[in-house]
Amino acid sequence: MSDGLDDVVAAHTVLSEVDGQAGRLIIRGWPVEQLAGRTAYEDAARLLFDGFFEDLLAGLAGPLGQARAEVFGEVAALDTGLLDRTPIEAMRALTARLGDGDDLATALRLTAAPAVFTAAVVRAQAGQAPVAPDPALGHAADILRMLRGREAAPAEVAALDTYLVTVSDHGLNASTFAARVVASTRAGLTSAILAGISALKGPLHGGAPGPVIDMLDGIGRPENARAWIEAALDRGDRLMGFGHRIYRVRDPRADALKAAVRKLVGQSNVAHGRLEFAEAVEAAALAILKARKPDRSLDTNVEFYTALLLEALAFPPTAFTCVFAMGRVAGWLAHAREQLAGGRLIRPQSVYVGPQPKAAA
Ligand code: ACO
Repeated sequence: MSDGLDDVVAAHTVLSEVDGQAGRLIIRGWPVEQLAGRTAYEDAARLLFDGFFEDLLAGLAGPLGQARAEVFGEVAALDTGLLDRTPIEAMRALTARLGDGDDLATALRLTAAPAVFTAAVVRAQAGQAPVAPDPALGHAADILRMLRGREAAPAEVAALDTYLVTVSDHGLNASTFAARVVASTRAGLTSAILAGISALKGPLHGGAPGPVIDMLDGIGRPENARAWIEAALDRGDRLMGFGHRIYRVRDPRADALKAAVRKLVGQSNVAHGRLEFAEAVEAAALAILKARKPDRSLDTNVEFYTALLLEALAFPPTAFTCVFAMGRVAGWLAHAREQLAGGRLIRPQSVYVGPQPKAAA
């Protein structure tokens, strides 16, 4: 038995393979490096959906645009109670308003939901009115437009597409497993996606990139990095953006995202020297982790450069996990359908270690 199910195989999947020893991620036959930077998110979603939903022939750009427009109606339910919550809690609450179902129309509404609701929540928390979707735009372009109220530069759209595609699927990670467990009960796709969002929210999974910015801000200057990191580890803190359950080498997604940040330098609000500063912090963290935990092979994970990329695109750190959900949702949906198609109810066992009933007197 393993508390973290480390070596348990719980599904056969055609969707993605994570090779933790080689540092390799394959999504439906494509190395992630060949999809990232070359594929729009709607095309990556179509690749994941292929064989799991009907009527994908014309591509997803048009239907996904329509779905964004459809779900925008739910934004009216954003009240002050929800606005006091974190963006992911508010986004999840709006997503919960969508009806359950198992068809492509439901899947497209769920793909649109994190994008449309996050943009509306972020704007409302800043005292701004929501911006309605433009169904004619690509998904990434419309996300940035709904967030900012004006069109984004092509380089920024390309960077967001790179991010969304890079995180679109990743084997049986915690949120995908949660989505598959719910799908296996036949509760419906909305219920499965709500489980995925809830699992993603935790700081050990998708909640890490916001705290990466806190760490960079706390360190402030490259020369402070070693002392700050040593003090954090002495307190027993974990360094956000480092370590992974599966990868024993560098997460291949880290380099795809670092390349995307590098392309943005000089074109968006990447502060001068920010990338070099992050690289210096990364180098210090890796050296210290190697010295302190020589047997653990702790390396950079996807969240470290995610933080820089989403900061450059002007998402507030409090909403970074929501942007992760905007990308991962296609993977959750495909896994949910794959589970429904062939899988049985997921129902593991536990070993009871509590007290036995007292013998009757
Ligand atoms: N900083 C410091 N120490 C770490 C870190 C870290 N980031 N990650 C693991 N360790 C240490 C643990 O403290 C533990 O030490 P110990 O054996 O002395 O107690 C050892 O390495 C093994 O840790 P585990 O918890 O067994 O590793 P696990 O595989 O369960 O954890 C996880 C993986 C949760 C990602 C972990 O590395 C972590 O907490 N990282 C920081 C959070 C983070 O970046 N999360 C995003 C992951 S990527 C994603 O989900 C998209």
